Amino acid sequence: MERKSRSLSTDARYLAAASIAPVGGNVVNTTREHNSGLPSASDGDWGIDPGSRLECRNLWKVFGDGAQNLANSVDPALSREQVLAQTGCVLAVRDISFDVREGETFVIMGLSGSGKSTLVRCLGRLIEPTRGEILIDGEDMLAMNKQQLRDIRRHKMGMVFQHFGNFPHKRVFENVVYGLQIQGIDKATQRNRASEVIDLVGLSGWEERYPHELSGGMQQRVGLARALAVDPEILLFDEPFSALDPLIRREMQDQLIALQQMVQKTMVFITHDFLEALKVGDRVAIMKDGEFVQMGTPEELVSNPIDDYVRDFTRDVPRSKVLTARSVMTPARVSVCADESLVDLRERLASQACETGVVVDEQGRFIGIVRLADIDGDGSMHSSVASVLRDSCPTAEVGARLESLIPLVIGRGGPIAILDNGRCVGTVSTQAAMAALVGDDGVAT
Ligand SMILES: Nc1ncnc2c1ncn2[C@@H]1O[C@H](COP(=O)(O)OP(=O)(O)OP(=O)(O)O)[C@@H](O)[C@H]1O
Ligand SMILES: [Mg+2]
Repeated sequence: MERKSRSLSTDARYLAAASIAPVGGNVVNTTREHNSGLPSASDGDWGIDPGSRLECRNLWKVFGDGAQNLANSVDPALSREQVLAQTGCVLAVRDISFDVREGETFVIMGLSGSGKSTLVRCLGRLIEPTRGEILIDGEDMLAMNKQQLRDIRRHKMGMVFQHFGNFPHKRVFENVVYGLQIQGIDKATQRNRASEVIDLVGLSGWEERYPHELSGGMQQRVGLARALAVDPEILLFDEPFSALDPLIRREMQDQLIALQQMVQKTMVFITHDFLEALKVGDRVAIMKDGEFVQMGTPEELVSNPIDDYVRDFTRDVPRSKVLTARSVMTPARVSVCADESLVDLRERLASQACETGVVVDEQGRFIGIVRLADIDGDGSMHSSVASVLRDSCPTAEVGARLESLIPLVIGRGGPIAILDNGRCVGTVSTQAAMAALVGDDGVAT
C-alpha cells in the first residue's frame, strides 16, 4: 500500500508556521472536504475498506468473571444494564467494527461511560480485548508478542491522553526526546527531531522547563510533541483537550487540524464533545452503551441523525456551517437542450415529478435552469425551452456550505444551480435552504 503519511522532517518548516493557529474562529471547520462516499451506519453499510490502515473487527471488551463466555454467547436483545444485572459483567465494548483510512481523522464520540476509552485502549492493546480482531496494515495486533507490540508502539503508533502523561521530573526537552532515546537512534538525530517537534507545537523557548511550570495547554502540547517525536503513522488520542479551558481548547483543535493537513497521519480521536467531533473528524462514530449507534461524516450525522440519542447531540450544531449543497439540493433528474419544445419539457418534468429542469449545451455543460412554474405561466407552449430559460441563475459548487447558499437564495428568490466540475448535479430552492437551516426542531442554527 502506498504510504501518504508525511515525515515530520519534511514538513516541520511549514508546520512551524501553522503551529499556533489564532484563538477564535468558527466552531465548525468549514474548509476541509469530508468524503461523503465513506460507509456510514445510517445507510447500513458497515463494510471494511480494503485501503485501511487500522481495522477493528467485531471487537468486544467485557469486564468481569466469565467475560469470554459472555462475549461469545450474550443475547443481543439484552441491554448493557440487563447484562450487568444478570451477570455482574460490564459490556464495555460490544461487537464494534470500523476501519480508519490512511490520513483520516476518525472520531469516536459518546457520553461518559459509553466505552470510548476502553475501545481506544484496546486498539493500542493497553488492555486486552475479550474477542475480535485489530489489524494494523493487515497485521493482527492481537497475535503480536511483547517485542512486536513494543516495536509497534515505538515506531508506528503514538498515544496522547487527557492528563498529559508527561514525566513530571523531566524537563520539556527530556520528555520529548525520551521516545527517541529508547529507539536507539544517534544523539544528533534525536536532538534535531526533538527540537523540530517542540518548535512544531509552539514550545520553542520552553525546553528547559518542567511540566509543572507550564499551563495545561502547554503541558498538552508536550504530550503531543512526545507522541509526534517518533513520527508514528497512527495516532490515538483519548480526550486530549478535555482538561483545557474553552479558548485554549479551540486553539489546540485548530492546531491539530493544521498539523493534520500537513502530516496526514491516521488518527483515532476520542471526545465527548460533539462540536469538537465535527470540527476535527473526517468521520465520526457515535457510541452508546459499548456500541456504535451511527457512523458517518459530520454532514451525514447532522443531516440524518439515526435516532433521538444522536439527534440530541445535533441540536446545537450550527447547521449552516456543517451542511453543504450536496445534502441540501434536490438532485437534477431532467436535462434538456435549449431548442427542445416546452411541451416535451413539461411532459418530462411531470413524469419525473420535478419542479426544475437543467438546460445544458451539446457537451452537457450547464447553461441555466427552467422551472415548471415558468412554463405554466407561459401562453405559448410551442416555444422552445430557450424562451423561459433562467440563464442568470446563481450557481454554487456541490461542496459549498449552506451559510454561503442562504444569501444567494434570498437575494434572487429562486433556485440555485449546484455544479460539480461544470455539470449541474442539482438545485437548491429557497424553501429547501430554509428547511435545512431550521432542521427538525424548527430552530435555525
Ligand atoms: N477496569 C475496569 N473494570 C470494570 N469496569 C470497567 C473498567 N474500565 C472501564 N469499565 C467500565 O466500562 C464502561 C466504559 O468505560 P470507559 O472508561 O471506556 O468509558 P468512557 O466512554 O471512556 O467514559 P468517559 O467519557 O467518562 O471517559 C464503564 O461502565 C466503566 O465503568
Ligand atoms: Mg474515557
